[in-house]
Amino acid sequence: MRKILILTVLSLLHSEVYSAKILAWTFFPSISHQMVFRPIWKELSLRGHEVTVVTPDPLNDPTLTNLTEIDMKVAYQVWKEIDISNFRRELMTVFEIENRFRRMHERIIHIMNETEEIQEILRKPENHFDLILIEALSPILYGLQHKFKAPLISVCSLGNSQYLTHLLGNSMHPALYSDILTGMFGKLNFMEKIENTYFILGSYLLNKLFIYPNADRIARSYFGQDMPYIEDVVKNTSLMFANVNPIFSDHRPLVLNIMEFSKVHFVERKPLEKVRILALPCEIIRQF
Ligand SMILES: *[C@@H]1O[C@H](CO)[C@@H](O)[C@H](O)[C@H]1NC(C)=O
Ligand SMILES: *[C@@H]1O[C@H](CO)[C@@H](O)[C@H](O)[C@H]1NC(C)=O
Ligand SMILES: *[C@@H]1O[C@H](CO)[C@@H](O)[C@H](O)[C@H]1NC(C)=O
Repeated sequence: MRKILILTVLSLLHSEVYSAKILAWTFFPSISHQMVFRPIWKELSLRGHEVTVVTPDPLNDPTLTNLTEIDMKVAYQVWKEIDISNFRRELMTVFEIENRFRRMHERIIHIMNETEEIQEILRKPENHFDLILIEALSPILYGLQHKFKAPLISVCSLGNSQYLTHLLGNSMHPALYSDILTGMFGKLNFMEKIENTYFILGSYLLNKLFIYPNADRIARSYFGQDMPYIEDVVKNTSLMFANVNPIFSDHRPLVLNIMEFSKVHFVERKPLEKVRILALPCEIIRQF
């Protein structure tokens, strides 16, 4: 009897905690992208995980005690530095857009590195975090996986670029599936197939010969010169989540480590307030 009592007391004292230390790092200074990510950090923290987030759009909610946000609003300044007035498809080729995007991204990571809070994170030892979550579009941030020797999940606020999914083992036929940056959706007609193939080949060369070698050089300078080539680090991504609305998606084949999700940024629906509608006499209505 006593044994049972002791065991019961011991089992009550022993409570298992499954909370993980999570580092989430986003960079894109645009609330419409960050809206997709914010509910994820919030929910993880509410479920008891210790979440540290580097973000240009913090929630600043004092009730979320397990969520530490590092405010990187400063990233918005980069919009002012680069001229975005002609950041439009009608005025620029998609390659120019990709290149501008790359410059903006590198500049933001540079600015982030200069801040003391980020330096503090980068001083943390290997294995300090149990999981890294990043914004999928940043080739540089994948290097955090090497820095902290932790599994990495990337989250995309919109469908993924073909090059990135190709690195994750998900190559798609350019005549069948459009790249998100082309702005084309659904079944492609003959001319669209040609345009898409041209874009995907061009984008492949741009990424392979320029964007990724550049990202590799920069990621090494932040996360260690001993890092494997950045494309190999990207290939090591454990999981990629892509925010895709199933109604507008053209249902592409995906490998098992790329998963689509949607609607996390929807706010809970509140019932409409009851409003008293005055019944207008038909005579008055007819006058209008
Ligand atoms: C914080 O995490 C603990 C467990 O680590 C959990 O019990 C608590 O409810 C969490 N608090 C909030 C506000 O999410
Ligand atoms: C990152 O910031 C630290 C502190 O200011 C600096 O010593 C280091 O050189 C920076 N790294 C790069 C690659 O700029
Ligand atoms: C991939 O991840 C595994 C396990 O975390 C690690 O041992 C390996 O070195 C990583 N490889 C690259 C190229 O990052």
